[in-house]
Amino acid sequence: MQPAMAETPEISFRHVGRTYRGRSGYTEALQHIDLSIAQNEFVSLVGPSGCGKSTALMLMAGLDQPDSGQVEVEGKKVIEPSDRVGIVFQDATLLPWKSVMENVLYPARIRGIPVKRVEPQAAALLELLGLERFKDRLPHELSGGMRQRVGICRALAYSPRVLLLDEPFSALDALTRDEMNLLLLELTESLRQTVVLITHSIQEALLLSDRVLVMSARPGRIIADISVPFERPRRPADVLHSPDFRHLEAQIRDLISGHEPGSSARTPNALFRQRLESFRQQIQTQTQNIV
Ligand SMILES: Nc1ncnc2c1ncn2[C@@H]1O[C@H](COP(=O)(O)OP(=O)(O)O)[C@@H](O)[C@H]1O
Ligand SMILES: [Mg+2]
Repeated sequence: MQPAMAETPEISFRHVGRTYRGRSGYTEALQHIDLSIAQNEFVSLVGPSGCGKSTALMLMAGLDQPDSGQVEVEGKKVIEPSDRVGIVFQDATLLPWKSVMENVLYPARIRGIPVKRVEPQAAALLELLGLERFKDRLPHELSGGMRQRVGICRALAYSPRVLLLDEPFSALDALTRDEMNLLLLELTESLRQTVVLITHSIQEALLLSDRVLVMSARPGRIIADISVPFERPRRPADVLHSPDFRHLEAQIRDLISGHEPGSSARTPNALFRQRLESFRQQIQTQTQNIV
């Protein structure tokens, strides 16, 4: 079931653009992004590598500022990071010399928040994610999946309204990734927070989200906004075997590879063959010129 759009969206982008200025010139990462994410909605962002997904997430987190337009969370312009927004990256970025519990409490320590206030929530989260026995361990003693779970606990320790996940499972093996998907599905269905997930896995996006936003290649624009129809609570087996799932998966895959859904005219292979043919002709012409 898709949550009703509240009057004030939890996250909104109005005509947002972001261009990076580097030594080698300008990179227009995002162009005219308009989006609206409701409270408690789970939205995935999918699109080709380099299309500006992480940039969009950094803007939501207040870790970067747009060059044009406005980003709002809870109806307020985002100007800096806030406790209301938690973020998890592909690498859990844990401090290697600190214990699991200390890593979860670390943001509280650096912000001067009394640790006593956060500790009960941190302990409850570690227990919920099956890490209570590991709270005194160091990160190198944990598996990759466990480290990502610690990262999720750290992001949730302040009960943020919004949870941002930037490819949190893409460095994990397939089995651990499936386990993490199930865990995140159960966690988000019971906590009902607003979640934005960046993923390369269309399957992951469809299993977890209420909506999938598909982005074009750079400069990133939103080219499709797809509602995911599966009832909650979801069981992965039901979702993955439904005909709707296969249909949506194919539609999103087609969109990402830059083609109209259902079109078979210009598959990547056809494009490659076209380039190969023109390359072959060029070589032929050059060879004839030499002879
Ligand atoms: N700090 C930066 N400085 C210059 N270019 C950047 C910076 N961050 C990202 N980019 C460029 O902006 C584009 C979008 O990057 P990113 O948002 O990381 O894409 P995605 O997460 O979709 O792979 C890419 O071409 C990337 O190289
Ligand atoms: Mg990225």
